[in-house]
Parts: sequence; C-alpha cells; structure tokens
Amino acid sequence: MEKCKISSISFPLKIMIVIAAAAASSHSQVHIIPTTLEGPFEPKTRSFDPSLRRGSDDLPMDHPRLTKNVTSNFPEQIALALSTPTSIWISWLTGNIYIYIYTHTHTFPFAVFKYLNYLIFFALWDAQIGVNVTAVDPSSVASEAWYGKQSGKYDAKSSGVSVIYNQLYPFEGLWNYTSPIIHHVRIHGLEPETTYYYKCGDSSLSAMSEELVFETLPLPGSRKYPSRIAVVGDLGLTSNSTTTIDHLITNDPSMILMVGDMCYANQYLTTGGKGASCYSCEFPDAPIRETYQPRWDGWGRFMQPLTSRVPMMVIEGNHEIEPQVGSNTFISYKTRFSVPSKESGSNSNLYYSFDAGGIHFIMLGAYVDYNQTGAQYAWLKKDLEKVDRDTTPWLVAAWHPPWYNSYSSHYQEFECMRLQMEPLLYQHGVDIVFSGHVHAYERMNRVYNYTLDSCGPVHITVGDGGNIEKVDIDHADEPGKCPSADDNVPEFGGVCHMNFSFGPAKDKFCWDRQPEWSAYRESSFGHGILEVVNSTHALWTWHRNQDIYQEQSYGDQIYIVRQPEICSIGSKGNKVLPTSLPPSLAATLRDPLLGCLLCYVAFLIQAFRIWEMVTTEFFLLWLC
Ligand SMILES: *[C@@H]1O[C@H](CO)[C@@H](O)[C@H](O)[C@H]1NC(C)=O
Ligand SMILES: *[C@@H]1O[C@H](CO)[C@@H](O)[C@H](O)[C@H]1NC(C)=O
Ligand SMILES: *[C@@H]1O[C@H](CO)[C@@H](O)[C@H](O)[C@H]1NC(C)=O
Ligand SMILES: *[C@@H]1O[C@H](CO)[C@@H](O)[C@H](O)[C@H]1NC(C)=O
Ligand SMILES: *[C@@H]1O[C@H](CO)[C@@H](O)[C@H](O)[C@H]1NC(C)=O
Ligand SMILES: *[C@@H]1O[C@H](CO)[C@@H](O)[C@H](O)[C@H]1NC(C)=O
Ligand SMILES: *[C@@H]1O[C@H](CO)[C@@H](O)[C@H](O)[C@H]1NC(C)=O
Ligand SMILES: *[C@@H]1O[C@H](CO)[C@@H](O)[C@H](O)[C@H]1NC(C)=O
Ligand SMILES: [Fe+2]
Repeated sequence: MEKCKISSISFPLKIMIVIAAAAASSHSQVHIIPTTLEGPFEPKTRSFDPSLRRGSDDLPMDHPRLTKNVTSNFPEQIALALSTPTSIWISWLTGNIYIYIYTHTHTFPFAVFKYLNYLIFFALWDAQIGVNVTAVDPSSVASEAWYGKQSGKYDAKSSGVSVIYNQLYPFEGLWNYTSPIIHHVRIHGLEPETTYYYKCGDSSLSAMSEELVFETLPLPGSRKYPSRIAVVGDLGLTSNSTTTIDHLITNDPSMILMVGDMCYANQYLTTGGKGASCYSCEFPDAPIRETYQPRWDGWGRFMQPLTSRVPMMVIEGNHEIEPQVGSNTFISYKTRFSVPSKESGSNSNLYYSFDAGGIHFIMLGAYVDYNQTGAQYAWLKKDLEKVDRDTTPWLVAAWHPPWYNSYSSHYQEFECMRLQMEPLLYQHGVDIVFSGHVHAYERMNRVYNYTLDSCGPVHITVGDGGNIEKVDIDHADEPGKCPSADDNVPEFGGVCHMNFSFGPAKDKFCWDRQPEWSAYRESSFGHGILEVVNSTHALWTWHRNQDIYQEQSYGDQIYIVRQPEICSIGSKGNKVLPTSLPPSLAATLRDPLLGCLLCYVAFLIQAFRIWEMVTTEFFLLWLC
C-alpha cells in the first residue's frame, strides 16, 4: 500500500521525501527495546551524575504536604490496599473531639487562667508525643465506608475496626508516642475493572471524608493484567521523595508495590533531621534507637493523593522494625497497614501473597524467621504449591534486602536468607524479584545460585526512592571498596558472607570488575513501572528522578520474557520436571533445541498411545 501511494506522487516530490526521510532517520534512530532473551548482557555501569546532589534534607513537619488539613474527627491519611480480587482494604486515621474538665489550674501554662478553678475544654485529642502521653479511646470514632459505582450514590456500606498503638521508651531523654485512631474497613463484592466512588469516616459524628474514587483490577486470569504497576523502595520523606512521588503519579499506576523502608521515622530528630548515621547519639544511655513517630503521620498525608485512589502493597524493611519497650517490633507497620495475610493463609503481616490479574505476588519478610524450619518457609511452600500458572502465569516476588547486589552497601548482607529460600523460589519458576535497601538501581541478568541461568528470575533493586540516607555510589568491585568481613551485618538473621567458589572471583569475597550477574547499575533516584503485556512479555521501565520533565526518557528499559515451555519448573500449569532428574538431563531440557526435540519425542509417544487406544477400541467394537 505504501509503495502504491508513493509511486503516484510526482517525481521531484519523491526525491524530497527520500531526502527528508534520510535526514529524519539520521537524527532519531529507531529505539529497539531489548528483551531478556538476548541476555545475559555484558555488565554495564552508568555512574552518578556529579551535577546532582547525593541527597536532600527531610521535609519539615510543617511542610504543606505533611500538615493535617482536616479538623476534629475527619478522616485523613486515606489509603487503599488489595484484599482479594473482589475486595479492598480502606484505611485512614482520625483524631477525636475530647471534652474534659480541668481543675489543676496552677500548672496551666497561661497565666491569665491562673485563678480559675474549673475550665471546660473541647480539645482535639490526637496523636501525642512527649512525656505522659494518654492514649485515645479507639472505640470513640467508628469505621465506616460507603461505596458504589455512581458518584454520590453509595449502595453498599461496610464497617471495620478502630485501633491505636503506642511507641514507648522507658529511657531517659526518649519521648513516648500514642497514635491517632487507625481505621481499617474491608469493602467487598467489587466487580473487576470498575470505577468505584467511596467515602469513609463516622457518619454518626457527621465526619465522613469527601468522595474519593478508585478502579478495581482485572480478575485473576491469563488474559488481563494491571496496566501499570509502580515499584518503589526506600522512599523516605525528603524533597527527593517528593520528586519520586510526583514522577510516579505522572506515570499513572494502577497499583503500587512498596518494597520497604517507608518514612524513616528512626532517622528523624535523633539525627537532627540530617540523616547522619548515628544511633540515638543525643541519648547515649538509651539502649534502643528512638523513632519520631509523627513522621508516619506526615508520610500518610504525603502519600494520600496517590494511595487514596491507587492500592499500595507494602512489605517491611529494616526501618520499619522500630524496637520499643518489651522487645516489641514493627508495631507502627503492623497497625497502620492492612495487608492480605489472612486472605493468603499467612498468620503474620510480615509476609503474604495476593493476585492482581494474571500475576501472583509473593511478599516475603526478611526481618522475620526465614529458615527452612520456620513458619514463613512452610507458608511459602504451601502458597507456591497452590499457584496455578494457567490462571496466574506470572509469579513476582518482593522483599526488602536484595540477594544479588554489587554495590558496597549491604553487599552479601542477606546471604543466609538466599541460602534458605532461593532453591524453593527457583523450583517454582519465580519470574521477577523486586527489592530495595540499596539506595541505587541495579538490574541483574537471569541468575540462580550466583550462576547465570536462563530460567532464573530477573532480580531488580529499586531502593532508590530518595530517602535521607543519600544515593549509594560505591561498587564492591572498585579498588578499596570491597567491604570488610564485619561490614554489612543484617539487622535480623545470621551472617553468611562467602567467597565465590568459581569464576573470575574464585576464592575472593569481591569481584575485580562488575560481576557477570549484574546487567545494569546506576546510582540515581527513581522508580519503576512494570507493564505486563501477556502471559510471556512484560515491559519494565526504570524512571530516573532527573528525567521527570522529559517525555520518553528513562534510565533502563527491557522486555522481561518468560519461557514456560523451556523453564518448565514447578507450579501447576507449568510442565513439571521429575525432581530426581539428573542435573545434566535437566540442563539438556532447558537447552532450547534439545528441549524441543525431547518434547517432540514425548508428543510422538503420547500420540502413538492415543492411536493405539482408539484402534483397540474400534477392534473391540468390531468384534461385538
Ligand atoms: C535531590 O534533591 C535535591 C534538592 O531538590 C537536588 O539538588 C538533588 O540533585 C537531588 N538528588 C538526586 C540524586 O536526584
Ligand atoms: C493541605 O492543603 C494544601 C492547600 O490546599 C495542599 O497544598 C496540601 O497538599 C494539603 N496537605 C495535605 C496533607 O493534604
Ligand atoms: C514512656 O512509657 C514508659 C512505659 O509506660 C514509661 O516507663 C516512661 O516513663 C514513659 N516515658 C515518658 C518520657 O513519658
Ligand atoms: C507526668 O506524670 C507524673 C505522675 O503522674 C507527674 O508527677 C509529672 O509531673 C508529669 N509530668 C509532666 C511534664 O506533666
Ligand atoms: C536459622 O538457622 C540458623 C542456622 O541453622 C540459625 O543459626 C538461626 O538462629 C536460625 N534463625 C532463626 C530465626 O531460627
Ligand atoms: C550453589 O553453588 C555452590 C557452589 O558455588 C554449591 O556448593 C551449592 O551446592 C549450590 N547450591 C544449590 C542449591 O545448587
Ligand atoms: C576470602 O577472600 C578474601 C579476599 O577477598 C581473603 O582475604 C580471604 O582469605 C578469603 N577467605 C577464604 C576462607 O578463602
Ligand atoms: C506476547 O506479546 C509479544 C509482544 O507483543 C508477542 O511477541 C508474543 O507473541 C505474545 N505472546 C503470547 C503468548 O501471546
Ligand atoms: Fe533498608
């Protein structure tokens, strides 16, 4: 068709078109997106752009995006999370109007009231930090959500739970905190790919939120996927975090994967807001590190414009541990976030799974027992065995600290977790692993047990959300940058640092060049977007903060391609290899050509059997 059109154009014009086309093509080369099928790739490093600063200060508590805009019992910090394919969690926080009579007038701060004996106060009883904090009664504000498919018309109502938590430090100098009321409501019976309008709050107090809106995801099935999944880690609450979130919003995600280390409450104030790596240095006698819990409330407000309309799935990082009195940990994380742990048969908020369209997501806890003898491993095994790859062809896992990492920071920190869990995930054919923790970007070649393997998952580190601790720029393979044995001790679990037993780094702790399993690394802030196209192709794009105002600009882009016919390992719907297969045969099966040949032979045998059955059947019929 094109040709016909061109030949009907007059000759001089034709020449002009040819010249113009040549000029155009010399200017803008057609960009071809690589696929993982072309890997393993030659390792590539793009170093830190020295015109940028490695980080920025924390946003102050009185920054407009952190301050409380609503009054009294009105909902704020509204956020969504997926529960089941037909239900969603809505969570929010409220203060409470509290009426009290004050008699102890001589301690009242304003001298003008000094001689009054009784005062009646209507106070906004909210989060408190300091000394002698008093918890709010969570039952004083109810948890209701109204929702429906038409704006202003709410056919369905659900109610939920109201809870609070305390962060307590019985140590000189450290302040206690008691939270506002935290509300969680599960709304159910939702139709897929449908727009819902909702309000949340307490109608008996006339304190319902404004109308908000969200869109449900497709049901599990191999034909439909969430259109864009944003992946972000180690976000923090700085001006770099602001750039990341603004940029992420312009990419219009349909869900968010938050891979841990969210508000960095434990790096605020303790460190003078500057992020110096110092443990409670102002209070040297305190045995545990202080956290400034109001940061969580600021973060909830900062995130609301996004999370009140796009579900966010969180997994804990080390900054969520927040130890307090009585060896309690993860209290803020566990109380603030709803996650589908019960829905996925997990008895802990620290690990769970869920489906979104044709993707099964597994969220693992790196700061809770991950040993093969433990509850998490038993749950994981059961969960993986249930996965049906005909319904959810994609299997995506996420946890906070990366197993594969060539930066000096956190190098080999979670080797013990890798040793415990990697074989199980590999056997079940996990396609992609997302992690954070390292404050930079790195995409690995397909790898298993530190060996390039075309059936291993694609590991991607996106701990580059922009937190106070600055971008990581050192690589373990650079001269003088190989960590020493006592660096990078994990905040949970054992140390399993090891020297490589083969390859160019044989008998050494660090490589002397970018390791072969690291395909691309860059020190920059940013976030990623995963767009699953169909049961075999997904487009992964990493967006850098400095490209926020540039269309069609990104740091890294690749099609992640599944090969279920070759990597026929594990779960239902994938062909299962006998587990006792000798390694050489397993390798042969994975080899595309030989694999095909074997499949063909198997097919012939099967066909012959059917033919035999049918003919015997006919023979018997004929006899009768
Ligand atoms: C972080 O933000 C600051 C201030 O906005 C900026 O100067 C700096 O270049 C940013 N750093 C990165 C790595 O994006
Ligand atoms: C509060 O309102 C101001 C002005 O409308 C807005 O800029 C800011 O983002 C709001 N803050 C929160 C936390 O909602
Ligand atoms: C914080 O709470 C603990 C436990 O209730 C208490 O022992 C401690 O005195 C409190 N600290 C302050 C500063 O109020
Ligand atoms: C805290 O409570 C104790 C005991 O109730 C009291 O002695 C103390 O003065 C209070 N401290 C402040 C700062 O209110
Ligand atoms: C996990 O196993 C290792 C070695 O077997 C052990 O040292 C460690 O204490 C175990 N961790 C937990 C949380 O049980
Ligand atoms: C991983 O590789 C090491 C040698 O590098 C080997 O000793 C170990 O058995 C391998 N593990 C698995 C599960 O294949
Ligand atoms: C591991 O490698 C380091 C150098 O990278 C070396 O100093 C150390 O002796 C090695 N340890 C073992 C047990 O081989
Ligand atoms: C998936 O999409 C890719 C790219 O559009 C295409 O090449 C491939 O054949 C598709 N695969 C399936 C199973 O539909
Ligand atoms: Fe971390």
